[in-house]
Amino acid sequence: MQLTSYVDKTALVTGASSGIGRLLSLRLARLGAKVALVARREEELRALAAEIEDAGGKAIVLPCDVADRSQVFATAEQAIAQLGGVDILINNAGYGHHRTFLEWDLDDMERMMRVNFFGTLYWTKALLPHMVERRRGWVVMIASVAGKLGVPEESAYAASKFAQVGLAEALSYEVEDLGVHVLTVCPGAINTPFFDAEALARMPPVAKRMMIQPEPLIDAIIDALRRGKHEITVPGIIRSGYIVRTLAPGFMRRNTKRTTMKR
Ligand SMILES: NC(=O)c1ccc[n+]([C@@H]2O[C@H](COP(=O)([O-])OP(=O)(O)OC[C@H]3O[C@@H](n4cnc5c(N)ncnc54)[C@H](OP(=O)(O)O)[C@@H]3O)[C@@H](O)[C@H]2O)c1
Repeated sequence: MQLTSYVDKTALVTGASSGIGRLLSLRLARLGAKVALVARREEELRALAAEIEDAGGKAIVLPCDVADRSQVFATAEQAIAQLGGVDILINNAGYGHHRTFLEWDLDDMERMMRVNFFGTLYWTKALLPHMVERRRGWVVMIASVAGKLGVPEESAYAASKFAQVGLAEALSYEVEDLGVHVLTVCPGAINTPFFDAEALARMPPVAKRMMIQPEPLIDAIIDALRRGKHEITVPGIIRSGYIVRTLAPGFMRRNTKRTTMKR
């Protein structure tokens, strides 16, 4: 289902306090949507809401830890009440680390699954019935290329993103005749606070060269929604990796080792 106008639409963006979520919230507001800003850091959300309002847009602030199921359901009720309904859900909140499986702390692996996957699951479960009832909605999953290809030092992150991609693909079939469109977004490396100094220092030059600014990603998401697409990978060239992995797995393994984090 194509999303061609944001005027009189409402959107809820998780992970709106930073990076991709922050910029996407600004764009949605600029295009005319009223936006609910969700994340844990209330001060950052308030500053963003002020920026949106100063530019003539509309935003509300809803602090919430997406890994907490009861907080998500309570916040979803608040969003529906304050916005008068939610048309667009952007499941974006998430984080990642680069660690070997052996070194990775089990509590953090579990937490990553709760934030990246269960956060998406809770928000979708909380808002989807309401979208189906209105026979109108768009659910956008900000997944990752790590949800399509497993690479070293991303085991727990890839697991959470593969889960998110699987959920999105299955769901997209189930709800398309009920008026709800699901778009999966698989970004490659995007220049946001997601990467700390240590990760940037260890990133091989070939991966650094592939890193893009967030704006082209935001453009691609808006374009994909306008065209009614179900899945995008940004930058698009990375899609060739999905084909190579299937047709030439040996070559893919050698290439993956060359492009992943330095020890
Ligand atoms: N940057 C990349 O290269 C890249 C590539 C592929 C996919 N992605 C995905 O894109 C999404 C956004 O990442 P980003 O690059 O914009 O990173 P970022 O700048 O670090 O932003 C992450 C956002 O997620 C929020 N968040 C984290 N844990 C949360 C929790 N428990 N509850 C609520 N909000 C939470 C953070 O807000 P608070 O800290 O205020 O809660 C923040 O707003 C993530 O899902 C990430 O996996 C990023």
